[in-house]
Amino acid sequence: MERTDRNGELRLKDVGRKVTLLGWVSTRRNLGSLLFIDLRDSSGIVQLIAEDPSKIPDVRNEYVVQAFGTVRKKDVPNPNLPTGEVEVVLDKLVVINKAETTPFIIADKTDALEDTRLQYRYLDLRRPIMQKRLKTRAKIVRTIHEFLDNENFTEIETPILNLATPEGARDYIVPSRLHHGRFYALPQSPQLFKQLLMIGGMERYYQIAKCFRDEDLRADRQPEFTQVDMEMSFLDQDQILGIMERLLAKIFKETVNYDVPLPLRRMKYWDAMDTYGSDKPDTRYGLTLKDVKAIMAKSSFAGFEGQEYIKAIVIPGKGKETSRKKMDELNVEARKFGLKGVMNLKVENGLLAGSFIKFMDEGLQKELMAALELKEDDLVLFASSAYRRDIDFGLGALRTKFAKEMGLIKEGTYDLLWVVDFPMFDPIEGQPGCYTAEHHPFTRPRDEDLKLLDTKPEEVLAYAYDIIINGYEAGGGTLRIYDHDIQWKIFKILGLSDEDVARKFGWFIDAFKYGCPPHGGIAFGLDRLCMILTGTDNIRDVEAFPKNLQAVDPMSKAPGEVSQEAMDCVGIELKKE
Ligand code: AMO
Repeated sequence: MERTDRNGELRLKDVGRKVTLLGWVSTRRNLGSLLFIDLRDSSGIVQLIAEDPSKIPDVRNEYVVQAFGTVRKKDVPNPNLPTGEVEVVLDKLVVINKAETTPFIIADKTDALEDTRLQYRYLDLRRPIMQKRLKTRAKIVRTIHEFLDNENFTEIETPILNLATPEGARDYIVPSRLHHGRFYALPQSPQLFKQLLMIGGMERYYQIAKCFRDEDLRADRQPEFTQVDMEMSFLDQDQILGIMERLLAKIFKETVNYDVPLPLRRMKYWDAMDTYGSDKPDTRYGLTLKDVKAIMAKSSFAGFEGQEYIKAIVIPGKGKETSRKKMDELNVEARKFGLKGVMNLKVENGLLAGSFIKFMDEGLQKELMAALELKEDDLVLFASSAYRRDIDFGLGALRTKFAKEMGLIKEGTYDLLWVVDFPMFDPIEGQPGCYTAEHHPFTRPRDEDLKLLDTKPEEVLAYAYDIIINGYEAGGGTLRIYDHDIQWKIFKILGLSDEDVARKFGWFIDAFKYGCPPHGGIAFGLDRLCMILTGTDNIRDVEAFPKNLQAVDPMSKAPGEVSQEAMDCVGIELKKE
């Protein structure tokens, strides 16, 4: 189809040229003697002007047209458009295709409901901001391919129809037609295959891999998402993190022109948890957690008695305005993390105030004021718990909530750090001596902690690392066990019997008998990286065709029912509700 230029690329240098353009009518304004049309294609928008509107066919928004005209300098430039210094004086306009009135206006700002946007995703994708996001995503992927190719990584695809992987979420399962009663699981990640590729001698693997996890959805979680998945042989943790930092720096430079300061900071897991109340801390603001056990254990409050952990968080300037209703809201939030609730004190006229104060004598009050460096109108929130993770996560959630409400997070700033030294095991609450794997059972314990495996598994730390960007877990990985005896010890601690191991992973661990190189890897969440680099907090904004929060595609309405015949074929009978 004849076309001389892309609309968004016309500039002053083109003045005087005859051009032929294609695109969609974004807006039109008919002033009687003059007709203005904004013509949009994937490169942007340019203004067309008809000086004799009677010669131009009637067009409406979203009509597809071909425009013939001459580029002219605008008397009054439009600073809001990159093409704003020029306009195209129309000779002729041809309607290629008409459009019905769209369910919402195609513009960056929209008040359409998200489900409506997803139902008409092809229209939503015409919005320039959506196109920009998908182009940024493509640029990130291109940068990754270039970088990893230069670093001798080989791109390898792994299967989608698999035996279940041990990532810890629920699997999406696919019934087998040839083997009734048996199911494939869609990969939660290519974890086992990439390790087998190391045993297969590939040394450096990567893949932009689709992963599937049937878990509760959130703003940064999709049931199917994309990982930049990598695995490397013969490298230690520092070497792996070094390559990953350089990759991230290149992505940030090429997409948002930001110079990531290298090397990145490393924070130990328990420091992140105890100080920021999160294993993915956003360190762009304070509101840190304070250990007040030594002071508060001296209060006469019975609820604190015998509690292992007592912590506080100070919210400056929020004393007066924090109502009982607000405290109810905070309590609801805290209980989600297993806390009994939060207590509060406020600083009024230089003194502590609040119902809780009756449990503290004057000396104790002064001690607390000094320890927390309290100022007028500060709000102090306390919690206690027998479990370190509960109190950290609970107060951490309140920290994030207040930071958002108080606007403490500066837009357009980046905060990158590694969280390292994760615990190897997560004790199961209420079941002493029982553990789950914090990452997965193939994670390698730190050499210096191997001696604790038999005696204090809960204290064993692992070679595990997460990359945290602006409070998001943008990626995570570990070094892997390559020693047969250690692997079996880990399975035992996780309570897996020989039969369990043989059934679940026998095919996999067999491979370790034949010369397994030391290896480790990482996977970045591509969608999350794209969210951060395009400045959105909604993962669905950076995927072309995402599912909504109910894991439904509002456009095709997937998941759908299937015919009885299709079910018979795979030997499945629907249970009556
Ligand atoms: P992990 O489970 O930490 O590690 O996943 C790696 C990264 O993938 C992203 N991610 C998600 N993004 C969107 N929606 C989801 N539901 C979702 N789940 C995870 C996150 C996360 O950091 N095999 C290991 C990696 C390894 O050890 O090499 C793994 O999958 O950004």
